[in-house]
Amino acid sequence: MVELLPSILSSDFAHLADDVAAAERGGGTVIHVDVMDGHFVPNITFGPPVVKAIRPFTKLPLDCHLMIENPDAFIADFAAAGADMISVHQEVCRHLHRSLQLIADHGMKPGVVINPGTPVDSLIEVLPMVHHVLVMSVNPGFGGQKFLPFSLEKMAYLSELRHEMHLNFRIEVDGGVGHDTVAQVVEAGAEMLVAGSAIFGPGGAEANAKSFLEAARAAEARMEEEDEE
Ligand code: DX5
Ligand code: ZN
Repeated sequence: MVELLPSILSSDFAHLADDVAAAERGGGTVIHVDVMDGHFVPNITFGPPVVKAIRPFTKLPLDCHLMIENPDAFIADFAAAGADMISVHQEVCRHLHRSLQLIADHGMKPGVVINPGTPVDSLIEVLPMVHHVLVMSVNPGFGGQKFLPFSLEKMAYLSELRHEMHLNFRIEVDGGVGHDTVAQVVEAGAEMLVAGSAIFGPGGAEANAKSFLEAARAAEARMEEEDEE
């Protein structure tokens, strides 16, 4: 089942709780939280205190995407703040297996993220221990960037690997996913669809989320029909 993960990076920070509620009414089922440190990526956002602030305002799981150096140092703080899922970048983890184990040890669902320039094959050994693999379809750091089409092959490859390895991790996509690209990512195998500007841009989060999910579910239904034929 495809799911929408509204990314609060593009929300109105002065009305964060209202924006989260609107995206939830529109059908968002997980809130995506982009944590940036100004080192791994050329932008700074927020950390555990903001996760703690949102926590009482929604029942939805909080998916924290850590775009930071040394994520191990902050896992306990995110767990205490109420995070449900944590994704760490393959590119910053010197001991990727240990970082993923640390997330699981804190009772959260571990995910691994790869930048556009990082190959899927660099994840083979950790695939059995992750809840999700996040394929970046832009270079991380900013919302509103253009979708990179070659990331579709990486999603499709992950989907093949999952089948061959008899695993059940979920495939997440992040960056440039909007009404125009959502069908392609669903067809490539993505199920957890992160969208920032497509949801919190003009039109209102509730209506945008609804139309985004309609397009995603239509693509999913077409695929199911093709499978049956
Ligand atoms: C980018 C972030 C994304 C961002 C996506 O570094 O990881 O989650 O919010 O924004 P859009 O959907 O606008 O590309
Ligand atoms: Zn993200």
